[in-house]
Amino acid sequence: MKKLLVTGGAGFIGANFVHYWMAKYSADKVVVLDALTYAGNIANLDSVKDDANFTFVHGNICDQALIETLLVEHSIDTLVHFAAESHVDRSITGPDAFIETNIIGTYSLLKAAKKVWLDGDSILAGHRFHHVSTDEVYGTLSPTDPAFTEDTAYAPNSPYSASKAASDHLVRAYHHTYGLNVTTSNCSNNYGPFHFPEKLIPLVITNILHDTALPIYGDGQQIRDWLYVEDHAYGIDLVLQDGRVGENYNIGGDNEWANIDIVKTISKLVEQEFIKNKDLATRFPAAKAARAQNTESLITYVKDRLGHDRRYAIDATKTNNELSYKPKESFETGIAKTVAWYLNNEAWWQSVMDGSYQNWIAEQYS
Ligand code: NAD
Ligand code: TYD
Repeated sequence: MKKLLVTGGAGFIGANFVHYWMAKYSADKVVVLDALTYAGNIANLDSVKDDANFTFVHGNICDQALIETLLVEHSIDTLVHFAAESHVDRSITGPDAFIETNIIGTYSLLKAAKKVWLDGDSILAGHRFHHVSTDEVYGTLSPTDPAFTEDTAYAPNSPYSASKAASDHLVRAYHHTYGLNVTTSNCSNNYGPFHFPEKLIPLVITNILHDTALPIYGDGQQIRDWLYVEDHAYGIDLVLQDGRVGENYNIGGDNEWANIDIVKTISKLVEQEFIKNKDLATRFPAAKAARAQNTESLITYVKDRLGHDRRYAIDATKTNNELSYKPKESFETGIAKTVAWYLNNEAWWQSVMDGSYQNWIAEQYS
């Protein structure tokens, strides 16, 4: 039985990981630590909040004393670190929070883990610090470059990816220097339920329903490698169970898409849902699909993102071979589930979209 501290567990991937873990390992104890920034939402954990094995703590990963207390009081043996500022556009307009949370916050967790697990009277055997990172640390690829492997040199291009790269290096150093049992996973772009609607896929779905523009940065030919979020949780599970300490594991689904093609695919899927389910026209009367009009006409090319990485692609051969990893969801099934989830969970996305997010969007597009 494990005792997990999950940082950022009220965010998109963290919450999906908590659902996955508690369904699969129901005897494990799970403590979520989350600062509930604009991206964190306690409602993401509604389905587990009454479970006796679940505890939610509202707090910041930069608070080293709090982390030490949680590690001791809950006898934590496994720390899974998701908490981060995660949106590239926000990192361009306001990098400070990224430096603070992604670098200083990770450093604070490492210091706390070292103090409690290594520096006491005895070393905690079998402890694990798992760091959740991104393929963006490897930089950008041309259309013909081979995909990123774990040996690809780090070359981060945005304040977000630079802050994640810095945190990856600190995690590595805490293993090499102090012997902390660490693993790191570098995953490609995720999509699925609870994805905050500032990121491309949920933004497109919700904008279609509101009948607002679908903004395509630059020429829309940038490529991302998309993975259903539960398959990310599954990959982390395998790394925690069988991954070698001190190693990095790439996680990806071999699923590269140009942005413009993703947007067109989602437009068609939403239109099909409106044809199948007549209630949708009543629930979302603004949507073009409610009037059998063409949704793609909402596509609007806008100014490109500064320093926009052209292509990401993950070579997950090491994870596939060493841990027998294979995503369970195809893109076809994953994106259909995702569209259905947003159609069925309007209350969720309407509630996360009011407040600070809306103000930020207004500033960006004014
Ligand atoms: P998210 O922005 O949806 O969630 C981040 C969570 O961290 C939120 O709940 C937020 O409240 C919390 N948080 C932020 N700052 C905090 C702080 N100082 N202390 C405590 N909690 C804090 O992010 P996500 O998309 O779920 O990403 C989770 C992790 O996965 C990140 O480390 C990210 O770099 C990594 N990752 C994301 C993707 C992706 O496609 N989204 C892909 C690969 C890796
Ligand atoms: P995003 O979801 O922000 O993830 P990341 O930047 O971490 O890959 O963006 C995915 C891609 O979609 C990226 O190339 C930027 C692009 N994009 C748009 O074209 N329009 C948008 O409104 C957004 C949010 C993203």
